[in-house]
Amino acid sequence: MSGSHEFVVVANRLPVDIRTDEAGEITWTTSPGGLVTALAPVMQSQDGAWVGWSGSAEQTLEPFEADGMHLVPVPLNAKEVTEYYEGFSNATLWPLYHDVIVEPEFHRYWWNTYVEVNQRFAEAAAGVAAQHGSVWVQDYQLQLVPEMLRRLRPDVRIGFFDHIPFPPVELFGQLPWRQRVVEGLLGADVIGFQRTGDAANFLRAVRRFTDHGTRGQKVTIGQHWNRPERHVRVGTFPISIDSAKVDALARTEKITQRAAQLRSELGDPDVLMLGVDRLDYTKGIRHRIKAFGELVAEKKVTVPRTALVQVASPSREQVQQYKTLRQEVEVMVGNINGDHGSWGRSAIYYMHHSYPFEEMVALYRAADVMLVTALRDGMNLVAKEYVAARPDLGGALVLSEFAGAADELGQALLVNPHDIEGMKSAMLKAASMEPAEQRRRMRTLRKRVLENDVQSWAEKFLAVLQHMPQRTSHV
Ligand code: G6P
Repeated sequence: MSGSHEFVVVANRLPVDIRTDEAGEITWTTSPGGLVTALAPVMQSQDGAWVGWSGSAEQTLEPFEADGMHLVPVPLNAKEVTEYYEGFSNATLWPLYHDVIVEPEFHRYWWNTYVEVNQRFAEAAAGVAAQHGSVWVQDYQLQLVPEMLRRLRPDVRIGFFDHIPFPPVELFGQLPWRQRVVEGLLGADVIGFQRTGDAANFLRAVRRFTDHGTRGQKVTIGQHWNRPERHVRVGTFPISIDSAKVDALARTEKITQRAAQLRSELGDPDVLMLGVDRLDYTKGIRHRIKAFGELVAEKKVTVPRTALVQVASPSREQVQQYKTLRQEVEVMVGNINGDHGSWGRSAIYYMHHSYPFEEMVALYRAADVMLVTALRDGMNLVAKEYVAARPDLGGALVLSEFAGAADELGQALLVNPHDIEGMKSAMLKAASMEPAEQRRRMRTLRKRVLENDVQSWAEKFLAVLQHMPQRTSHV
């Protein structure tokens, strides 16, 4: 089994939004995600293919071409969406890997479906990758794919990148299938993580739950039957954004005008605070709103001179914990607005929808204080987007130390979001920061984000992958 594509990306989702129009025709638009932007040049120059799910249940699509990429849809039926995507990926692994902020559920039938669906992704990748090609598997939904693919296609180089945290062994050890997951990942030649702490956690899990030896960042998989000894490289590759694109967009007349217009529509507050997140319990939205509500109640800030815009884009809405979170957030916002709003002016402008990227960049440019208060986050690209969107060197970033971005963005005001008093102080400090200090901090932050963009992230990872030894096609 082999195909003709030298470079193959395997991700839970395809990098396009697929819609069926009134005539029943399938149409697609490229989704603006950073990953596809980063990989587009590699995909186009190396005849790349992207294996992923369309996002809809019971949709069987033929492979198609989009923006110079060969897209290979992997179908999921309704039961698989419930058990593999909403269940094992997002109600078992997601909370387990994010510090058990909510309790993970362990169900054997979810696991079985996760195994089956991972096998389907591995087979789809095996069918399109060229002899000795490279396959790059993405994220926690597909942790078994590296090993499954290696069995099918021992000739290809396999990379894996984990976009979310890898938990400490004391939490990971709860997973009944922990050894299978570690072995699944070790099918790769290179395994990348966001933070050095994640890589260290993974290496500890290898030592605790397998017999493989580790030395520094290298795992040795001993010879087994007719499989030769091989090495797996573990590394840290913090993901980023297309910084130059965001920076250029933020400088346009259109965006600066829209930013001014947004401020005036919000009643020209002295201080505009902003939160932008998927509506997810990992993001610390409740903690942030609580802190803001207390500042208002204690008259440390006044409404409408200070306003908070919270954009919470809908996410994983079939999963119970996400439904609960939505109710909690909306009750909190309702209480604060009910107590402190006035005709035509709210304390919190809460939006439960997504916006086009241009509107987000205008919001970033409009906001004096950006609040990124995740309880745990692999990286958090919103923090990097805010920085890239401030070529004017204005604004202040309040950033959780539990977001991967904190490793690089030390010039932000770092907070522990569980410490509500500490967060309130940081919010006040950000709100009253002198322009000179804003500029000094923002200059350093921007240097980091503009130098380390998503293109260089992909290049660094793929350079390591290309250095791994090429194998014969014999198992
Ligand atoms: C996180 C994950 C991604 C995921 C995204 C959106 O960033 O790391 O793998 O695609 O959230 O979540 P969704 O469930 O809508 O794909």
